[in-house]
Amino acid sequence: MDRTRTKDYNLGYMEAQIQPKVIINRREIEIAVQRLAALINKDYHDKKPVLVAVLKGAFIFLADLVRHIDLKLEVEFVCLSSYGQGRESTEEVKLVQGLCSDIRDRDVIIIEDIIDTGITTNFLLDYLNQQEPSSIKICALISKPSRRKVTIDINYLGFEIANRFLVGYGLDWAENFRHLPELCSIEDD
Ligand code: PRP
Repeated sequence: MDRTRTKDYNLGYMEAQIQPKVIINRREIEIAVQRLAALINKDYHDKKPVLVAVLKGAFIFLADLVRHIDLKLEVEFVCLSSYGQGRESTEEVKLVQGLCSDIRDRDVIIIEDIIDTGITTNFLLDYLNQQEPSSIKICALISKPSRRKVTIDINYLGFEIANRFLVGYGLDWAENFRHLPELCSIEDD
């Protein structure tokens, strides 16, 4: 399969010589999202979990995932940032926007687009645990285990990938490319 998209993604980015190349296509993402939703449906069949999505990156993943979850649930958001304009974590997580609702005694599922160093998720676990939920599980679309600096136990995982910088499906490079429907690389092979 030719995974290189040239048609849509040339728009506005050619001057920067950046051509995102598809690494995980729409169908592969859809299958993974449905698989994760099925696991959550099974594990929480008698519960009403609170899905805490981590903005900005998780906005598309959350939107697709919840439409395959057949449970009573609530959705909450936090906005965390540690990458800024670069491709490397600053290792300093900023809580841009905290929770708006009480999660005490609730079953929480963190919804992350990507877990890289693990520093963001670790920060979020500390933040959420202070509010004494009944349980916390982690659902991530992508994990890069080779980059991990903090051990994170991921309960629901879509894809494990090697160390390459991804954009699309919510993920950005300096706020660009979040809208691409596939997961793409912007690095030369
Ligand atoms: C990205 C991503 C995760 C985090 C993972 O967020 O959405 O939240 O990095 O990286 P880590 O495991 O190395 O901490 P980012 O800080 O880029 O903010 P964004 O979601 O607004 O793009």
